[in-house]
Amino acid sequence: MTDTSTASAGSVPLAPRAWPLLGHALPLLRDPLAFIMSLSGYREMVRVRLGPSSAVMICDPDLTRQVFLNDRTFDKGGPIYDRIREVIGDGLSTCAYPLHRRQRRLCQPSFHPTRLAGYGAVFARAAAAKAGSWRDGDVLDVTQEMMTLTTRATMETMFSGALPAETMQRCLADTAVIVSAFFRRMMTPALLRRLPTRQKRRYDDARTRLAATIAEIIAERRADPTDHADLLSTLVAAVDEESEDGRRQLNDAELADEALTFFLGGMETTAITLAWALHLLATNPDVQHRLKAETDRVLAGKKLDPAHLPSLGLASRVVTETLRLYPPAWMMTRVVREDAELGGVRFKGGSTIVLSPYLLHRRADLYDEPDRFDPDRWLDAQPDRATYIPFGAGARKCIGDQFALTEAILALTAIVDRWALTPVGDQPFQPKVETSLSSRGLRLRLTERRSSGAGDAEGSAAAPLSASVQPSTQPGAAACPVKHGK
Ligand code: HEM
Repeated sequence: MTDTSTASAGSVPLAPRAWPLLGHALPLLRDPLAFIMSLSGYREMVRVRLGPSSAVMICDPDLTRQVFLNDRTFDKGGPIYDRIREVIGDGLSTCAYPLHRRQRRLCQPSFHPTRLAGYGAVFARAAAAKAGSWRDGDVLDVTQEMMTLTTRATMETMFSGALPAETMQRCLADTAVIVSAFFRRMMTPALLRRLPTRQKRRYDDARTRLAATIAEIIAERRADPTDHADLLSTLVAAVDEESEDGRRQLNDAELADEALTFFLGGMETTAITLAWALHLLATNPDVQHRLKAETDRVLAGKKLDPAHLPSLGLASRVVTETLRLYPPAWMMTRVVREDAELGGVRFKGGSTIVLSPYLLHRRADLYDEPDRFDPDRWLDAQPDRATYIPFGAGARKCIGDQFALTEAILALTAIVDRWALTPVGDQPFQPKVETSLSSRGLRLRLTERRSSGAGDAEGSAAAPLSASVQPSTQPGAAACPVKHGK
């Protein structure tokens, strides 16, 4: 029941500069981050219009947390998820509340700490192989390089057997087309989205091809159901003991949706986190210098291994701080399922709510010098679960957070151990705002330095990474030094 003393959502102040028909679509498309930050003066919430529809943007950390924690009322939905659903159907990240708990139970074993230790060994090898493939003086297309690294690591952890290079290349190209189309499609009215433009054809082709590749891999796995100790094996074997007959498993269509969800959800987010981390290190040589000292001390001539993770404190803080400054999921949407009250405002069922980690992470009243890269702000402080939300919170919190952190910390260590990174040119690099906060176009120059061991981890691109995907007997061996609370 709603309290009659609450105000209606229509009384929430409207952000300035709304155009008659377009609303705020132009500033949102032209410079979304500047637009979002222009709203930080609103302490609780503000209304934003996109064409004829409007959404309420939550600016307050406690109200944001309330939305995250009450996922029955504030359900996954809204323009971002509608577009993502076009590609991954009702996978774990897009399904609505009534399906979610069962899907989460079926997917959770794939991310159990015992599996993570095995994945960590793959990440260490993949990173060493990537760092070993560069030459002194190379200028890297950093995002592209990190995408191939995380695609390879994700493929190896998900599908263990190395895929043919051509299939991998195709998946990478299709993924790039799909993720870069999401944001534009989200901002485009439905009628225009259906026009048979060249862009739409490319997007449709990429979607169809990627889905067919994943379906092929699943069909092969069904034909040979032995445990490959990878993510797909765990998904195929997962049984929902809380289902009616206690034996419910994922069918082929659900498996394909989940595999695509993990593939798309895990690969790009981790790649751009790494790219931003390398950018921040290149522009903060003092931190880079200290990170190299850490890799020298921790590796001391030995090859990089997930067991080193607890000692990689600075690398871990660099990743935490990178995710604060450049949270890949810079904006998330929710749909209100039934009339509800939030922060003294009545929301009607069907309303759209927008949450923004980027806005909270850069608010001057929540962080000292919020725009400054300062990994040491995390030296004595654990990330606060209301004001630090790169992985969301509550029941829909990222299932791959530890997977991503493990991968990012190990990759950063392997790279900095072997290479000094410097910016190319003297222009500040700006994010390309898409569904994620993309680092597309970022270039950095490499200078080789003496490696203390990470790059020697059988660092040839030809090394079969899948050999090391084994379930570990040491629970928590890959535990990350940074814990992100629920
Ligand atoms: C740095 C890397 C990553 C970031 C920043 C990130 C961020 C997020 C965020 C913010 C959410 C919550 C979205 C919402 O509530 O609307 C989420 C959910 C999710 N993420 Fe990640 N993610 C990352 C890596 C990964 C990886 C590596 C995987 C899988 C291999 C993954 C799979 C998922 C899935 C399946 C969900 C949906 C969970 C659910 O609804 O139960 N993510 N992620």
